[in-house]
Amino acid sequence: MQNNDPLKPGYNFNAHLVAGLTPIIEGDELDFLIERPGGMKGYIINMTSQGEGTIFSGEQAFDVKAGDLLLFPPSAEHFYQRQKDSASWFHRWVYFRPRAFWNDWLNWQEQRNGVFVTQNLDHNNIEQIERLFIDIEYAAKSDMPYRDDLAINLLEQLLIRCKTVQPDVVSKPIDPRVIEAMNYMTQNLNQDFTLEDIADHTCLSSSRLGHLFRDEMKMTITQWRDDQRISRAKQLLVTTNYSVNHIGRIVGYTDPLYFSRVFKRKAGLSPKRYREQIS
Ligand code: FCB
Repeated sequence: MQNNDPLKPGYNFNAHLVAGLTPIIEGDELDFLIERPGGMKGYIINMTSQGEGTIFSGEQAFDVKAGDLLLFPPSAEHFYQRQKDSASWFHRWVYFRPRAFWNDWLNWQEQRNGVFVTQNLDHNNIEQIERLFIDIEYAAKSDMPYRDDLAINLLEQLLIRCKTVQPDVVSKPIDPRVIEAMNYMTQNLNQDFTLEDIADHTCLSSSRLGHLFRDEMKMTITQWRDDQRISRAKQLLVTTNYSVNHIGRIVGYTDPLYFSRVFKRKAGLSPKRYREQIS
């Protein structure tokens, strides 16, 4: 059975990102058990916005309430429904195929039966996180230019926030001059800047900045810059039809051969193969 409504069984989640709100009210047409024993091909992130839900059954069962977050990795079993004593269960969700560099954000601290769970967040975090869910859905369903880029960008923010609120994440502030250097590089990604240019911008000598950056980020400035260029290139390869050479230029490589070489070193395959594989 095939249908065009992701809230009903039979929808084909053959996309990079689908977002929605499932408003389950006792006795209504959506008041059924969502059951996918083999999980899905992509990830699902889920946040309860109202009422309560019950995830799994028997000994594995647990309830979720407003503000609770769930992350279902691909293939993790889906088995959830409105909590039987609650009149409703409204939950927001985003289905997505992750990018490789998101890996760290998709590893939360607590896992139950293959599903990551985050509960008891403070009001502020809940509000910010829910806002992102809403914005993602709005962007993905809009017809504005760059809607896919925007939805993916918002999803990245959502995943970073969710990772940041994990109890085991220790947050040590990064030196503001290193942040300045990173901002400079991000803003000038397509330019041929030198270490001296960045150093001038941060009012440090090149060697002092080089050491500071390495101490804080555990990698050299060049490695960091190339990582940024390549992740931006990966994004452009899957979200636009630009030619590989054009994308190379956008991310700062005027020489196409050099771009391919760096890309291959970082991503393990050529830009062309990467595009073919992801799409
Ligand atoms: C909808 C469900 C929602 C989520 C998405 C992927 O049908 O209501 O909970 O599982 O599918």
